[in-house]
Amino acid sequence: MDRINPVSAVDYMNEGGYEGLKKSLWMSELDIIHEITESTLRGRGGAGFPTGIKLSHAHNARSKNKFVLCNADEGEPGTNKDRILLSKDPNSIFEGMAIAARAIGADKGYIYLRAEYPYIVPILEQALENAREAGCLGDNIFGSEFSFDIEIRPGGGAYVCGEESAMIESMEGKRGEPRFRPPYPTVQGLFQEPTAVFNVETLANIGPIMYRGADWYKTMGTKKSHGTKLYTISGNVRNKGVYEYEVGVNLKDLIYEAGGGIPDGRKLLAVQTGGTAGAIINKHQINMPMDPAYVADSGGSMGAGDVLVIDNTNDIVDILDNVLSFFVHESCGKCTPCREGSMRLYQLASGIIDGTTTSEGMENIRELCETMRLASLCGLGQSVPIPVLSCLDNFREIFDEYIVRNEKNKKIAAGGAK
Ligand code: NAI
Repeated sequence: MDRINPVSAVDYMNEGGYEGLKKSLWMSELDIIHEITESTLRGRGGAGFPTGIKLSHAHNARSKNKFVLCNADEGEPGTNKDRILLSKDPNSIFEGMAIAARAIGADKGYIYLRAEYPYIVPILEQALENAREAGCLGDNIFGSEFSFDIEIRPGGGAYVCGEESAMIESMEGKRGEPRFRPPYPTVQGLFQEPTAVFNVETLANIGPIMYRGADWYKTMGTKKSHGTKLYTISGNVRNKGVYEYEVGVNLKDLIYEAGGGIPDGRKLLAVQTGGTAGAIINKHQINMPMDPAYVADSGGSMGAGDVLVIDNTNDIVDILDNVLSFFVHESCGKCTPCREGSMRLYQLASGIIDGTTTSEGMENIRELCETMRLASLCGLGQSVPIPVLSCLDNFREIFDEYIVRNEKNKKIAAGGAK
């Protein structure tokens, strides 16, 4: 990044770019999938699904029309990593898409670009044109029999459009609402055809894996998760930004070394890892590797690698209230658990502050979270319980204090009424 002109395919090739694609042109589809599976690459959008398995499902689907979609609808608050790749290194994304297409037997790809990133459109368009001119995309790539091209599709401007099936609906010209899954897009996706959907960062990993091999990739990371990861650090830190580290870097190091710690003599209160839908943890829990496998095992969520640092001038109940107001706004309304559940949770969380939520309300919060987790149609509603329950559990004393106060005031009010 910043070493090459982002729109120049030639510059990219001078740095070893498109070598992975060139290599894959002479490999069988199954050998490509095998190499990526061996690398243990997992989706970098948040869910961490194994990329090799996704390719294999799309490869096995029977159809002449298959698609590769790049999910560039980076809507998670506090996530800025994809826009850096899109604007600074777009050829790495095109290369990953072309290799994925070669592996599953597709000849067409789309980049679904977040509506709020309009300044990236001309960069991508120019980069695509230059890549075609240099023979890296289009007909007979690098003189082979393989042809593949990419189109940009503007996003619908809603958080839910980053959910893969809502994104597909939006691309088909419909309202961006999630579909029931299964069938997963690898079986029935865009225009009902097999479609492999990948996050921007996942795609950027594929070229280097094919070029240098799975064994090289596995020299980085932890025992369970390999390679590098882009982490976005935001909130109350000195050095906000996007940082690349090996998977498994300690969260504490991200906050205090990369992020430069908390300014103005304030203290750490909490960290939200994994975006708005991620867990909210307290200052005693930050000594942990940012490894999706480890974080998931300990009940958290690393999401797309976001680290939101919250200092002690904030009220944690207020933070939760803010998180829930986001979900109320972004719930698409298609399914009842998410539409009604988000609103009720928001009312209950606000009630903790304004005095109307008592211990009964706290029980309702937990019950609603369980309903949303089990019954929501898509990841949006299913993940609302993660910030809510982690916040209640990791800051129990603070919530208890509020509830004791509310109960006391309720009793006083009831006494007054008598
Ligand atoms: P998911 O776990 O349902 O699916 C993840 C991927 O694996 C999808 O592509 C899905 O098609 C595939 N998959 C899962 N099971 C499969 C199966 N049995 N067969 C074939 N393919 C299968 O997760 P979902 O709902 O797609 O994404 C949720 C994640 O998105 C959350 O973890 C959250 O962190 C993240 N997210 C990221 C945002 C961003 O801006 N990067 C915004 C909002 C959420």
